[in-house]
Amino acid sequence: MASVTKRFPLRARDFLHAGEASIQVQAFLKTMRLDPGLIRRIAICSYEAEMNAVIHGGNGELEMTLAEDRIVIEVRDEGAGIADIELAMQPGYSTADETAREMGFGAGMGLPNMKTHADELELASAPGRGTRARMIFRRRPPQEKTP
Ligand SMILES: Nc1ncnc2c1ncn2[C@@H]1O[C@H](COP(=O)(O)OP(=O)(O)O)[C@@H](O)[C@H]1O
Ligand SMILES: [Mg+2]
Repeated sequence: MASVTKRFPLRARDFLHAGEASIQVQAFLKTMRLDPGLIRRIAICSYEAEMNAVIHGGNGELEMTLAEDRIVIEVRDEGAGIADIELAMQPGYSTADETAREMGFGAGMGLPNMKTHADELELASAPGRGTRARMIFRRRPPQEKTP
């Protein structure tokens, strides 16, 4: 099977449409009959990364690649970036503003959850240079059927 890539634009502070890219990724993976547990992990991570771009980051893009052995979710934004990635990764750490908090965001668990649920998380960011979160989810080879 050749790999399939889908891209979705993300708009900073667009709370009305935030999360839609992840919903579309989830729907697509369901049509591809991936393992439900795997889809769930991808959906959690994709949503957290998408919301981070919209809430904390800037305009950007969510890219999903389905390959034979893996699914890769990459979320890039052109926002302010993260000065201290180690600090940002701490459970409970959040710089979410009042507006985001009123909508229930800002628990500071997005990045820790991405780390927990992805097989690999690569977070690249620098002040003024935007942020890129790349997550890899490995697919298990199909089980041998016993006759
Ligand atoms: N795309 C991003 N651009 C800028 N800062 C980010 C981005 N993603 C995460 N951060 C920083 O990392 C912090 C922790 O993120 P996260 O664990 O998802 O918690 P929360 O989104 O609830 O604040 C954010 O509050 C923010 O300071
Ligand atoms: Mg978050």
